[in-house]
Amino acid sequence: MSSLGNNSRVLSGMRPTGRLHLGHYHGVLKNWIKLQHEFECFFFVADWHALTTHYEESHIIAESVWDMVIDWLAAGVNPGSAQLFIQSHVPEHAELHLLLSMVTPLGWLERVPSYKDQQERLRERDLATYGFLGYPLLQSADILIYAADKVPVGEDQVAHVELTREVARRFNHIYGREPGFEEAAEAAVKKMGKKNARLYKDLRRRYQEQGEHEAVQVAHALLQEQQNLAINDRERLLGYLEGSGRIILTEPEALLTPASKMPGLDGQKMSKSYNNTITLREDPQEVAQKLRTMPTDPARVRRTDPGNPDVCPVWQLHEVYSDDAVKGWVREGCTSAGIGCLECKQPVIDSMLAELAPIQERAGELQGDPGRVRAIINEGSEAARDVARKTLEEVRQVMGLEYT
Ligand code: TRP
Ligand code: SF4
Repeated sequence: MSSLGNNSRVLSGMRPTGRLHLGHYHGVLKNWIKLQHEFECFFFVADWHALTTHYEESHIIAESVWDMVIDWLAAGVNPGSAQLFIQSHVPEHAELHLLLSMVTPLGWLERVPSYKDQQERLRERDLATYGFLGYPLLQSADILIYAADKVPVGEDQVAHVELTREVARRFNHIYGREPGFEEAAEAAVKKMGKKNARLYKDLRRRYQEQGEHEAVQVAHALLQEQQNLAINDRERLLGYLEGSGRIILTEPEALLTPASKMPGLDGQKMSKSYNNTITLREDPQEVAQKLRTMPTDPARVRRTDPGNPDVCPVWQLHEVYSDDAVKGWVREGCTSAGIGCLECKQPVIDSMLAELAPIQERAGELQGDPGRVRAIINEGSEAARDVARKTLEEVRQVMGLEYT
């Protein structure tokens, strides 16, 4: 939980479509592990998202879910610091997705770049489905249901967070205009006390008249601090600030995950589709073997030929794993033909095995204790549902779906 007294909530998901590899570890997981110490975090297995592309091979999803959770835990994602859960264990995501679909213009989904891109890239699958078109909107539901304001994602997912912002704005615009909104907002301002009320009004004026975005941020912080404001009033004041109706769904922000520097065995980005990965559970013998046989500078044919690290995929691995001393030894030895390629690879092999050893040890323990892994997920799913249920109650209410 956030022990640092900030109110940010982080949410991210991963699709269970296969084994996690070192690219995931150096890109996504290390980032999650850092974030879990800074913010309240929710991390989940996006099994329904996996189904949009793998509906004909759903066994892959079933096979990957628990191994993925084990890999998260083994890598250092801490269930004491982050809630871990499975998307389909929180069926409220599906209800919010459905309700959001009512107000989402078709064109917004058709224009998301990943829609056409993925259809072209994954030609062997038929992705001309309703579910696949809805992929980014399901993601919006994932985010909005927790009122997450920070969403760590890679570059390819930024457009989905942007769509989420637009959907939230549209929803708030349609359903946030209660009758008597202005009066209710003015009454709520008074509840803050004289000094804070004056401060709020001043910030609102600075934003509305001068467009000062900073004033909005300060006002948000001010509203967060108001202990005596009911949630409804806080939402009204958030909306009143910007001139819209009440804010029911919170607009998130993408936290761009720094691109992983982890190269695959061929020097391209490590990725399952390039068949150049080392998985987190790869057998150590196999790791060493893969590295020993990986390509080097193609111009260095004989041991006596000098090489050029700048065109060698092994060098990129040294950039990830080696300190300056080792890197100096590589550059000097390679360019003068002083060392052989096998020799050059050895420090990388050693470092990678040292990195994997504790992860594999913990994964082994967790595999032998499935009850513990399930308990962690059950607890996380319960915590997630508590938050999700509250959001949905409010969404149903503002949409007029309470008939009792
Ligand atoms: N679409 C994301 C991916 O492929 C996974 C995902 C699903 C996600 N729902 C999310 C990520 C919500 C962040 C927030 O990587
Ligand atoms: Fe690559 Fe190292 Fe061989 Fe040079 S010595 S070509 S850097 S593997």
